Amino acid sequence: MYKLMIGAIVPRPIAFVSTQDEHGVRNLAPFSYFTGCSTNPPVVCFCSAVRSGPEPQKDTLRNIRATGEFVVNIVTEEIAEQMNATSAEVGPEVDEFELSGLTPLAGERVAAPRVAESPIQMECRLRQVIEVSPLPGGGNLILGQVVLFHIREDLLEDGKIDPEKLRAIGRMGGPSYTRTRDRFEMQRPR
Ligand SMILES: Cc1cc2nc3c(=O)[nH]c(=O)nc-3n(C[C@H](O)[C@H](O)[C@H](O)COP(=O)(O)O)c2cc1C
Repeated sequence: MYKLMIGAIVPRPIAFVSTQDEHGVRNLAPFSYFTGCSTNPPVVCFCSAVRSGPEPQKDTLRNIRATGEFVVNIVTEEIAEQMNATSAEVGPEVDEFELSGLTPLAGERVAAPRVAESPIQMECRLRQVIEVSPLPGGGNLILGQVVLFHIREDLLEDGKIDPEKLRAIGRMGGPSYTRTRDRFEMQRPR
């Protein structure tokens, strides 16, 4: 079923989620069950899967439950390898900024760190965790309200983000990813 889900729902954007625990230990992990679900107020959501084994809950979810805060960083071609490095299943004591070589920046409205190398960072406050299923492979949907957007200046023109400059990547099935360079336009019908 996992293979069907990740093969059929493509391409998926990637929320590169930075958090810290109650002692200030930093954490970073990618989540591609990710989208926006409200613009007024701005709310994003992503899903943390339930693991099988002794530690079913991912560090990201535990940190968000403990602190009520997180940052969603957008993944570009330039930081794809580092993003992938942070998906290693490591203990909660491991700082994935150090593991990946990415640079932490202090959040302005939240205590969670941001990824300096990411051109778009969304500081979020937890609104709700919806437990979809507690079974292994089940998920917890995490909804966060964006309280501050950081957008690299050169990406913006007339309030719009230029996808050519952003160079976001998306996830396909298995180890496969997509770039966002091949695009086309269609006008909506009136
Ligand atoms: C591109 C990519 C997308 C991923 N998407 C998800 C996802 O949507 N949900 C999930 O639970 N894990 C996903 N993972 C796996 C987590 O990143 C991985 O389990 C990570 O170790 C969790 O870290 P944490 O325990 O520090 O939170 C993804 C991994 C990669 C590389």
